[in-house]
Amino acid sequence: MDCEEIARQWLAAAFETVAPGCGAGKVVPSKDARFGDWQCNDAMGVAKRAGKNPRELAQAVVGALPLPDILEKAEVAGPGFINLTLSGKAVAAGVEALAADARLGVAQVGAGERVVIDYSSPNVAKPMHIGHIRSTVIGNAIDRILRALGYAVIADNHLGDWGTQFGILIMGYRTFLTDEEREHLTVELLERVYVQSYGRTKDDPAWLEQCRAALVRLQAGDEACLAVWKRFIEISMKEFGRIYDRLGVKFDLWRGESFYQPMLGPTVALLKEKGLATQSEGAWIVDLKEQGLEVAIVQKRDGGFNYTTTDIATVRSRVEEFDPARIIYVTDERQQLHFKQFFHICGALGLCGKARLQHVWFGLMRLPDATFSTRQGNVIKLETLLDEAAARARAIVDESHPDWPEAERAALAEAIGIGAIKYADLSHDPATMIVFTWEKALALDGNSGPYLQYANARLNSLLQKYREAVGKEPAAQPLTVGSPTEKALALHVLQYPNAVARAGELCKPSVLADYLYQLCQLYSSFYQSSPVLKAEPAVRDARIRLCDAVSKVLRGGLALLGIPTPERL
Ligand code: ARG
Repeated sequence: MDCEEIARQWLAAAFETVAPGCGAGKVVPSKDARFGDWQCNDAMGVAKRAGKNPRELAQAVVGALPLPDILEKAEVAGPGFINLTLSGKAVAAGVEALAADARLGVAQVGAGERVVIDYSSPNVAKPMHIGHIRSTVIGNAIDRILRALGYAVIADNHLGDWGTQFGILIMGYRTFLTDEEREHLTVELLERVYVQSYGRTKDDPAWLEQCRAALVRLQAGDEACLAVWKRFIEISMKEFGRIYDRLGVKFDLWRGESFYQPMLGPTVALLKEKGLATQSEGAWIVDLKEQGLEVAIVQKRDGGFNYTTTDIATVRSRVEEFDPARIIYVTDERQQLHFKQFFHICGALGLCGKARLQHVWFGLMRLPDATFSTRQGNVIKLETLLDEAAARARAIVDESHPDWPEAERAALAEAIGIGAIKYADLSHDPATMIVFTWEKALALDGNSGPYLQYANARLNSLLQKYREAVGKEPAAQPLTVGSPTEKALALHVLQYPNAVARAGELCKPSVLADYLYQLCQLYSSFYQSSPVLKAEPAVRDARIRLCDAVSKVLRGGLALLGIPTPERL
């Protein structure tokens, strides 16, 4: 049992003795070391309900039972706060146990539960642009965090690979490309063709008719149309794959919207059968005005289905096949109404099984003007952003390490660039808008990816120096926790499992990012005040053991955020 659990049980038992049935005893880390290491603020509430003096009640709680070994003291402060001070020995033992555990103490709260995460999910035949980065990066971090918590995660890239745009695309592909271009097709060419073909639908009714006809043929399974459509998907997946490789993102499934096409008719039939769908101006709709959710169209006047219909069918299919405890969707904030609508409809149809449907939405990421030298129209391609990040990082690397081998400098620049972009995103609460600036993202001394990567590399080098100079393994040294800075750092290390659990529970990787940033700050004040290699042997060995634990937690935490950790920097 960990220290926190022991303290919690001791306090709960003490409260129970003093005020039976009150259920109090919550312990939280103290904000300030002067108030002990942990504190409990429950006495005030319990006293108020019982009409007692809170300070006296807190005193009684503290004196009710003998102190457990792990606590050095329990004191009452102010109107009735209970401040707990852990013994250095207990903290040291806790850190040792955490560092020796392959999971770094993260409790397997998700064991036996399946979660589907639908993220990234770009639309085929369009380049991924800067808007897709947040879904990809946040979704992937949630994916990694939930896996660390023991959940069986199914990461599904729900590609937008079906829809009315394909008629326009097929016609454009056949008309506006040279043989040579068709031979070496790229997503960029497809985008150009789409713009051209779409433009022509505006003032050429015959063209519009041909596009419609192509769409109808595709939907009817016409071989030639299907072959072209498959080519669009293949080319897009190849390009997306290149970006995912750079970002270290892997999916278990790539089930696009097209996968669910055969299920759309039956889905609308079910909606009609349950009396949820009604007819309005020739279309079938679900009227959710009473729920304050406007109206969702499930079948258009021309018989076509849309986004809502596909998402309802998708829930049905995922529940039947995987029986998940949760289905998580990661998209931008503009889709909130859509998700509320189909979540409500799925609930009303009883399609969810035991699954909780959860929409994790995020604010947009904006770039201040003139951030980019190369702009294609107004949309910045994701790949351009990644290239620019690597190029800027490369300049920094070249300046500080002109003597390092070319391959290492290139790999390092890529790791720093990707880390900077990911961290700039993950360090914010998903629900906020981000204004991305290179200065902040690449700063070596602020709350940035490179700062954390740098701290990690410095720890690596310290551990290595110790091995070389002392000839012993840091992880094998006994840990003692003496000074206040050591204790503050060690206590923070002990909070790692909580940070991971909370980040997973709330689907906010930012909780973990904040935790890691604080860890680096505490480490840096520890390191400034407490020499390691130059200290006398017993102190040196204890301190290196603490550094080893910090290094493990930092590396583990960065891995859960999907941020690369280069060995040296
Ligand atoms: N393809 C959509 C887009 O790019 C995102 C899909 C999100 N997932 C879903 N099941 N609706 O906006």
